[in-house]
Amino acid sequence: MENFDCKKKDLLEKPQLILGYFNSVARRYDMMNTLLSFGIHHVWKRTAVRMLGLNSGDRVLDVCGGTGDLAILAAGDAGPSGHVTVYDFSSAMINAGRHKKTYLSDLKHVGYVQGDAQLISFHDRSFDAAMVGFGIRNVIDMKKGFEEIYRILKPGGKMMCLEFSKPSAPLFRLLYDLYSFYIIPFLGKAIVGSKQAYTHLPESIRNFPLPDELTDILKHIGFSHITHRKLTNGIAVIYLAKKD
Ligand SMILES: C[S@@+](CC[C@H](N)C(=O)[O-])C[C@H]1O[C@@H](n2cnc3c(N)ncnc32)[C@H](O)[C@@H]1O
Repeated sequence: MENFDCKKKDLLEKPQLILGYFNSVARRYDMMNTLLSFGIHHVWKRTAVRMLGLNSGDRVLDVCGGTGDLAILAAGDAGPSGHVTVYDFSSAMINAGRHKKTYLSDLKHVGYVQGDAQLISFHDRSFDAAMVGFGIRNVIDMKKGFEEIYRILKPGGKMMCLEFSKPSAPLFRLLYDLYSFYIIPFLGKAIVGSKQAYTHLPESIRNFPLPDELTDILKHIGFSHITHRKLTNGIAVIYLAKKD
């Protein structure tokens, strides 16, 4: 099963498979992110949360929040009267994030809820802002995930999605493909012991809609004021949108 292809898997098995990947890499997820992105993911995340433009006192949902990097940044921006909830289906990722929270003892305003992004366990119109960072790509029914984000936002609420995409420059794209399809799975196997989880990463990026396609999907769901900004030649993209 080393060269596992997600597309061949039955839809019923896929969520369990993805959950299994994240449970298996959770303990070293942060370290791997920093290693594989040469630390750039911290800059992307800081930029994305800043662009979301949170107000003091905002209630924020971090969908597919994992170990809570975005939530921690957002908690700083929303201030002591704000609150950020990390929402993720992997208990192992949540626990890894909780540990980080204990370490950063000033983060009293970050909470954790385990659940599926395709059926968010919060009432309609209950958040001022929602974020999803490098997560929606893994949600089997991505459209349903965005519909749920739309549902839980208050009118006037803001959404930020940070997601991988494809570099614009052909030569850079070639180098990036070589890195993602050969080096990343190799390092995943060598360091975390899971080649599959890190083969899933480039596969899922390749299957994810390009910025203009994603913009159409968001528009169709009802979002307005949709903009995007490419980062590092398009390796990652920040999408911003509003619920009117
Ligand atoms: C690549 S990690 C991103 C974590 C974090 N947002 C970050 O930027 O570092 C993707 C996360 O999405 C979660 N996830 C994937 N599918 C999900 C779903 N259907 N419902 C909830 N969480 C999901 C995984 O458990 C994982 O923690």
